[in-house]
Amino acid sequence: MVGETEHGFMFMAKIIVLIGAPGAGKGTQARLLESNLGIPHISTGDMLRDIQTTDTKLKREIKAILASGELVSDNTIFRMVKERTSREDCQGNYILDGFPRTPIQAKMLEELSKEQSKEISAILLDVPSENLEKRLTGRRICPICGEIYNIYYKAPKFERYCDMHPHAELSHRSDDAEEKVKVRLEKFKETTKSVLAYYERSGRLQRVKGVGTPNKIYERLERLVAANNVTA
Ligand code: AP5
Ligand code: MG
Repeated sequence: MVGETEHGFMFMAKIIVLIGAPGAGKGTQARLLESNLGIPHISTGDMLRDIQTTDTKLKREIKAILASGELVSDNTIFRMVKERTSREDCQGNYILDGFPRTPIQAKMLEELSKEQSKEISAILLDVPSENLEKRLTGRRICPICGEIYNIYYKAPKFERYCDMHPHAELSHRSDDAEEKVKVRLEKFKETTKSVLAYYERSGRLQRVKGVGTPNKIYERLERLVAANNVTA
């Protein structure tokens, strides 16, 4: 799919690959991009957690993996991404959060982007590792709207309840327990860093400083996204 700039230049639709360590703020920022610019936000982590509410063979397969902080298999993840991004709302630009995470997944996305006639543009949300632990252990999520809170940095108005859904008790991800956080950060270093190098080598990686308030980071990110001609 192609679009046109105000000067009449044609450009291909984009797949924005948002990369960042666990707790870097991928979900927080992608939700803002989606609500402000209308670009669909596809989070593989959220999809996997949604499957946990079903009673399927896949649920039983991934439950233990998710809780441990290890990675789900490349083929399972790719099948999910391919199916989700073939839907109507992903005909134009879309944002991937949490995929690709391994070099094999990066290759799979390369093929998919060709099939979909889209360009890949990777953005790293760069956050020093010392900031990540409190972001993860303090995270709380509304089970209804998915709003992301943090008991240290973005507390809800009423402790334990969503501002928008005052009867919904916020949930705590099982993989946000301290010992699981360590496994996830290690996995990120081990596997996802080579994905970054892959996009860097092909000149498709841009970086956004991921410290400061979420709004400040969003301003940086939105500027970058606009410079790439990415609109809804
Ligand atoms: P996933 O859900 O993708 O988890 P993750 O990559 O570990 O990232 P998080 O969701 O923890 O962090 P985030 O960057 O979204 O941060 P957030 O915005 O919430 O994956 C979970 C699991 O699923 C994996 O471990 C794996 O098992 C499996 N999986 C998923 N994709 C896979 C794949 N492709 N292949 C194989 N397995 C896969 O923010 C975090 C906290 O920080 C919040 O509390 C927030 O309020 C706070 N915060 C945000 N911004 C700021 C700020 N600027 N200042 C202070 N606090 C902030
Ligand atoms: Mg997330």
